[in-house]
Amino acid sequence: MATTRSDEVAGGLLERSVELALRAPSVHNTQPWRWRLRPGEVELHADLGRHLPGTDPDRRDLLISCGAALHHLRVAAAGLGAAVTVDRLPDPENSQHLATVRLADGPPDRAAAALFGQLTRRHTDRRRYSGDPVPPARLATLVGSARDLGVLAVPVGDPVVLARMNEVLREAAREQRHEAGYLAELLVWTHRYADARDGVPRVAVPTRGGQWDEPHLHRFPSGSLAPGRDTGADGGTLLVLATPRDDVAARLAAGEATSAVLLTATRGGLATAPLSQAVELPRTRSRLRAALGLPDQPQLVIRLGFPLPGAPPLEPTPRRPLGSVLLGP
Ligand SMILES: Cc1cc2nc3c(=O)[nH]c(=O)nc-3n(C[C@H](O)[C@H](O)[C@H](O)COP(=O)(O)O)c2cc1C
Repeated sequence: MATTRSDEVAGGLLERSVELALRAPSVHNTQPWRWRLRPGEVELHADLGRHLPGTDPDRRDLLISCGAALHHLRVAAAGLGAAVTVDRLPDPENSQHLATVRLADGPPDRAAAALFGQLTRRHTDRRRYSGDPVPPARLATLVGSARDLGVLAVPVGDPVVLARMNEVLREAAREQRHEAGYLAELLVWTHRYADARDGVPRVAVPTRGGQWDEPHLHRFPSGSLAPGRDTGADGGTLLVLATPRDDVAARLAAGEATSAVLLTATRGGLATAPLSQAVELPRTRSRLRAALGLPDQPQLVIRLGFPLPGAPPLEPTPRRPLGSVLLGP
């Protein structure tokens, strides 16, 4: 069949959308995804070759990362003017095939399009935040953005619950160091060679003393990112994403909600940082659930707050080029 001009335009739009989706956050910046471009549609596949078994034994982080990329793709397509439909887990014989996104007739999703400008502005900020608390109305908007995707977002405001939660985060950080493979993975993904297109570069990690250290959750060794002018107490908030079930579909949805929350927060001038240590090990995850008194399954913790005055802007972390993440036809 001959390729028409409109096929070419549609193909270009999908390719550009995938390129923008590559900006999604991922555990240790592993970018555990592969994409297949076809006329009028694109498939998202999990890349199990990039799974971190010592850090993420349940593949929760991997699926959340892919879910975030799926939401980024929807935002990109909408921002470029296209309506799409999403078929999640379309192939019961292939659990790595996470979604197929198809171009559709009609206007683009307005809520998704409104986040387009944030795809290249969002970065993980591991520094301490300013003392200004996150206003309740902003938190309510973030909770709503997760709810729209079927995911519960719980801001931890009560100081007693927060103290219990910080204790669980501390335990998680302590216990995880003894997990086989965990420290080796941390070393590998924070010490990439100079031109690497993945992993966490030193410039994305604050200098000694500049990291948020409330529960001593220093996941990464000190880096070169300068903090801002410290204003005393950190006014940041922890937000826990949770789902009623805990299967592949739930983790994928949690990833989509992660992207929605992070992009919406970025639009509102907030700094953000995902924190996954407490949910990576089954035992600390159940302790987190108990500390929060949640009937739902915790999937990810997100820290949000206003940047410190004078905090230098964050640099984008590297990404693999499109050609490295495309699957053949
Ligand atoms: C599922 C998931 C878990 C993550 N866990 C952590 C974490 O525990 N600590 C942390 O500092 N960053 C964490 N991150 C952030 C990634 O390290 C970050 O997204 C990646 O390095 C790319 O950088 P960017 O977000 O600035 O684009 C996580 C991200 C995702 C999606």
